[in-house]
Formats: sequence, structure tokens, C-alpha cells
Amino acid sequence: MLTQCFNACAQKENATRLGGRLIQAGEVVAFPTETVYGLGADGLNPEAVRKIFELKGRPGDNPLILHVARKSDVRRLWTQVPPVAQRLMDALWPGPLTLVYQRSDIVPDEVTAGLDTVAVRMPDHKTALALIRAAERPVAAPSANISGKPSPTLAEHVLEDFDGRIPLVIDGGPCRVGVESTVLSLEGVPTILRPGGVTREMLEVLVGEVRLSPAVLHPLGEGESPSSPGMKYRHYAPSAELVVVNGSAAKAAARIRQEVERAEIEGRKCAILATKQTQSFYRGKRYVIIGDRDCPDTLCANLFAALRALEGTADLIFAEQVGLRDSGLAFMNRLLRAAGFQTIEA
Ligand code: TXA
Ligand code: MG
Repeated sequence: MLTQCFNACAQKENATRLGGRLIQAGEVVAFPTETVYGLGADGLNPEAVRKIFELKGRPGDNPLILHVARKSDVRRLWTQVPPVAQRLMDALWPGPLTLVYQRSDIVPDEVTAGLDTVAVRMPDHKTALALIRAAERPVAAPSANISGKPSPTLAEHVLEDFDGRIPLVIDGGPCRVGVESTVLSLEGVPTILRPGGVTREMLEVLVGEVRLSPAVLHPLGEGESPSSPGMKYRHYAPSAELVVVNGSAAKAAARIRQEVERAEIEGRKCAILATKQTQSFYRGKRYVIIGDRDCPDTLCANLFAALRALEGTADLIFAEQVGLRDSGLAFMNRLLRAAGFQTIEA
């Protein structure tokens, strides 16, 4: 199969019209969102949804998010729209917030992996919204990466994983947020199943208490079952070993330097995910500045691209722990999962 790559700016009309037609025909199309690139198919067509699972090599028990272009579309996907959902949608949609609530009968089992809830979001991205409108149906879309690999934040990343396997990639340039949407369960006390661009602090202002699923920052114990099936799989993982170093910026950076020097003697190829504040500690070593520790949004925006860029050239990567406030929580969630929860104290 030839994969066509359309530029979302120069060829906007063509790209979304073709994408919409392909989705209607049961095909799978990659498209940009404000979080990461998605691999989209007709969310009401079980066969099209099964193609997504096959392409990604995704475990069948990990449900998908339905993407809508209008807030009112949730009415036919959920059994009802609870007031708390309405408040969140009014304030934060379109945006990087996925809401999980009881599903209606039109949602196929393939989307929900048999759960009685369905996850829905309205992306804050012109091309994504135009594509969903052109498709004239909810679009089921996971991140457009092979299962287990870092999520794609550039069209090039999608091609790395799917060139020749899907008919169309719509190239919208780099994704603004860089990590996937916040997934919030609305059954009982609102609970964050996966942190993302919409922070716990933002949610609490709107709806009061918001809980955090324990799986966000801790590996699941033997036999424990997660409230979000996606939490149980190793995720975002580079093929290199990744180690997170806990402690203050200065202590972590000093320890990382020491560890790199030791590992280099053993002949290992090391790289460091540095921040603006710590780069001076790493002089003479191989490092990538991923952002500013005081502005975790910048760290989120660059994490996955940095992991992909180091692919094949480093076999041991070190990263610094950052605080959990605001989008620091989403950053640490992705970093710890990419590291398989391997941490050391500075
Ligand atoms: O930003 C995003 O959300 C991106 C873009 C493409 O929109 N999509 C994305 O999809 O990250 P995916 O499939 O990679 O992650 C969906 C997450 C998984 O952790 C999954 O387990 C969880 O949402 N999820 C989906 N439906 C659920 C449900 N009914 N209950 C609990 N968790 C659910
Ligand atoms: Mg994913």
C-alpha cells in the first residue's frame, strides 16, 4: 500500500475530504491533534475499529477513545450527560480532556473492549475537527504508534511506524501538547485515569475533589486490575534502558553525571534528558534539552520526540525527576512508564 502524506495547511481541503471518505469506507487514517497524532477509523464500524488494533498490535482489552466535532455528539454515545460532564465540556472542550461515562447501545464492543463505559473527547485542533466533520461520525483513535512505542508528535513519527500500512497521513506539523489527553472517569468521584494537558488543578476548580488513580504513578501490583486497562501495559518505551533520578535538580544532575561517567567506562552509549536549568552539569556529555523545569508544559511537548530521536543511538538514558504540580504530573507519568518505573535516589 502506498501511504500518501498530505500537508494540513497547503492541502487542507483535499486532505480532510479524502480522509473523511477513507474513514467512511472503513479505512484507517493518521491525523494531527493538539496532543499527539491519532490513528482514526469509523468509531461505529466494528470491522474498521478492529483494523486499528491489528495495525498497532494493540491488546484487545485496551479500549479506544471516540473523537467528536461537536459537544452535543456525546448525547448519542452516553446513556445520559451528567451535569458534571456538561460543566467540564463547557469549560474545557475542545481540549485535551477525555471523559469516560456509561456507553449507549450504538457504541460497538470493539471500541470499549467490552466495558460498559466509553471514552469521548473533542480535540482542539482545526484539522482534526475538519476530518471528524468530513467523516460525519465519531472517529475512534488511539495514538498513532505501534503499541508500546513513544506516541507520535510529528507526521514523520507516524511514518516510522506505519509507512506502507495505511493509505493517508495528514501532516499538521508538531503537536502542541505533546502528551496524550487527560482521561477522567465520571463514575463516582471524578478520577484521573491518565494525566494529560488538562491538569488536576484545572479540573478541581470546576468540579471540586478529583482523585488520582494509583496506577498513574505506581506500577500495578501482581494481580491488581487497573481502572483504565491501558495502565497495565509498558508504554512509551524506547529500546534503550531509561533511568529516572529522583532528588533536587542539582543533586539529580550531579548523580546523573557520575552515573554516565561510570557507564561510559563500561562502554555503554549514554544520553541525558536535560533541562534548561541543569544543562551546565552535563558539559562534554551527550544531552538533549527537553525544556524548562519551571514550565512542565515544555517538558511534555518534547519528551516523546526526544525519546524517538535517541532511538538506536543511545543504550542508556538518564532523566531528572520533576515536581508533580500542573503538567509535571503528566510528564512524570509518561517518564516513569517509559522507564518501566526504574528510579534511583540522587
Ligand atoms: O490525546 C489522546 O487522547 C490521543 C489522541 C489521538 O486523541 N489518543 C490516545 O488514545 O491517547 P490511546 O488509545 O493511546 O489511549 C486511550 C487511553 C488508554 O489508556 C485506554 O485504556 C483509556 O484511554 N480508555 C479508553 N476507554 C476507556 C474506558 N472506557 N474506561 C477507561 N479507560 C479508557
Ligand atoms: Mg497510546
